[in-house]
Amino acid sequence: MIELGVNIDHIATVRQARKTVEPDPVWAAALAELGGADGITVHLREDRRHIQNRDVRILHETVRAKLNLEMACNDEIVDIACQIIPNQATLVPEKRQEVTTEGGLNILADKSRVEKTIRRLQEQGIFVSLFLDPDPNQIETAHQLGANAVELHTGTYSLQTDKIAMEKELNQLRTAGKMISDFGMRLHAGHGLTYHNVLPIAAIPQMFELNIGHSIISRALYVGLKEAVAEMKKLIHSNC
Ligand code: PXP
Repeated sequence: MIELGVNIDHIATVRQARKTVEPDPVWAAALAELGGADGITVHLREDRRHIQNRDVRILHETVRAKLNLEMACNDEIVDIACQIIPNQATLVPEKRQEVTTEGGLNILADKSRVEKTIRRLQEQGIFVSLFLDPDPNQIETAHQLGANAVELHTGTYSLQTDKIAMEKELNQLRTAGKMISDFGMRLHAGHGLTYHNVLPIAAIPQMFELNIGHSIISRALYVGLKEAVAEMKKLIHSNC
């Protein structure tokens, strides 16, 4: 059964718009879990634009599902992860100007830094996933560096409107998924997944975990978070 990680950064974005105490991502995590979330995902960014240190600390105490901390290979954030010890860390690229994560991490460009970060996290017992584009060179390097999992970036797939272009992206993701699994790493995917485009991704045979934020939080505004999570969970399991 595919696991659903619910990204609750947007809840913190609304709170930070007023720099107040509500809505609290800790409440959101509890509701997401009641809706069937297998994991709660938060991104502690260097600029703290949404999730704050306090959120990660409290979520670590309260989340019963898996806590997945997204982070850049940044020493300050890695130190925090090594103190709090989430179940999983997902290493992502981070640019101050971007609205959201724009693509996979280029681990070929900075192998030693990525390797050092993976080791530090794994020494604390943290399961490490790398957010990558479906590029065979990146995937092979993830294996060489000892990553436990690869989260495939589905952002490009999700932007396609044309059926042929979408199928081309899907085929790349399928091939990459098999490669990740053949290397003995766990297959995750995320970014831009919605109630409308998630099924072909959930149907990739080796898929273990999907991380979804924007679409679930958007639907939650109308139907409530528990219901929005339950609907997504039902959908991704409808393939099984
Ligand atoms: N996975 C990763 C690595 C991400 O950075 C994000 C966005 O923060 C997501 C999944 C979720 O993407 P979306 O909000 O588009 O569902």
